[in-house]
Amino acid sequence: MNTLATYNIKGGVGKTAAAVNLAYLAARDGRQTLLWDLDPQGAASYLLRVRPRVKGGGKALVRGRRSLDRAAKGTEFDGLDLVPADFTYRNLDLVLDDAKKPTRRIARLLDPMADHYDVIVLDCPPGISLVSENVVHAAGVLLVPLIPTTLSVRTLEQLSEFAAGLDRPPALFPFFTMVDGRKRLHREVIEDLRARRDDLAATVIPALSLVEQMSVHRAPLPAFAPRSRVTRSYEDLWGEVRDRTAAKPQRSKAPRSRTGRTSTAR
Ligand SMILES: Nc1ncnc2c1ncn2[C@@H]1O[C@H](COP(=O)(O)OP(=O)(O)OP(=O)(O)O)[C@@H](O)[C@H]1O
Ligand SMILES: [Mg+2]
Repeated sequence: MNTLATYNIKGGVGKTAAAVNLAYLAARDGRQTLLWDLDPQGAASYLLRVRPRVKGGGKALVRGRRSLDRAAKGTEFDGLDLVPADFTYRNLDLVLDDAKKPTRRIARLLDPMADHYDVIVLDCPPGISLVSENVVHAAGVLLVPLIPTTLSVRTLEQLSEFAAGLDRPPALFPFFTMVDGRKRLHREVIEDLRARRDDLAATVIPALSLVEQMSVHRAPLPAFAPRSRVTRSYEDLWGEVRDRTAAKPQRSKAPRSRTGRTSTAR
């Protein structure tokens, strides 16, 4: 099982857009995929048309009273399930703080998911919190969307230092997003970082209003704009992630049958 997480201290940088598109592409590639929307705002749940509600809330999940498996809902897309957001996740830090090994609780909750899923994608809320620390511990690969500014490159450096201090640091996979190739500053920031880091994705996600349309269509980009340039970019990005994680391509897990859509809001 490969655990990927989109993470950045900064808000509004394309974490959720990446999480939803990459999870969709992983599933389309034949991997049983589970996306956990950890953000109480519930953007990923909204985009995948799943009601943002978990019975018993975040507390039931963290305390193990409700398994992630039971909380997972089917989506409209084959092979893609979602553990929805819940408004109680706003207090997840407090609940985690009460747990044993509070920084590793989410990793422990994910362990049994290896029986059913090839790929787990965690969509993390912005900021530095116990939730994000858990996510950094749980992730094998930390996908870090960067907008091409000097400041976001600096926050990447802080994150790299933090991750390097962990027992089992995740592989960092920074990628630029919301890029306007006509802007010289964007080109310069990208070239500068490329010269300094060899883990930077070759793929760059362009700034295109089509990405905002995800919330109108409530679907991943490849599902409603298969031929768009930005869809191709996410496909290339998924190709890079796949190569780095060397996940196996076959549908090796028994597909779940989550056809009951009672919880799906349309
Ligand atoms: N490549 C892009 N081009 C244009 N708009 C984009 C792009 N990527 C994301 N957006 C838009 O920017 C906004 C923020 O994106 P998104 O929700 O993915 O960011 P986020 O980092 O998850 O935000 P938050 O920190 O609030 O969770 C959304 O309206 C989204 O549609
Ligand atoms: Mg988000």
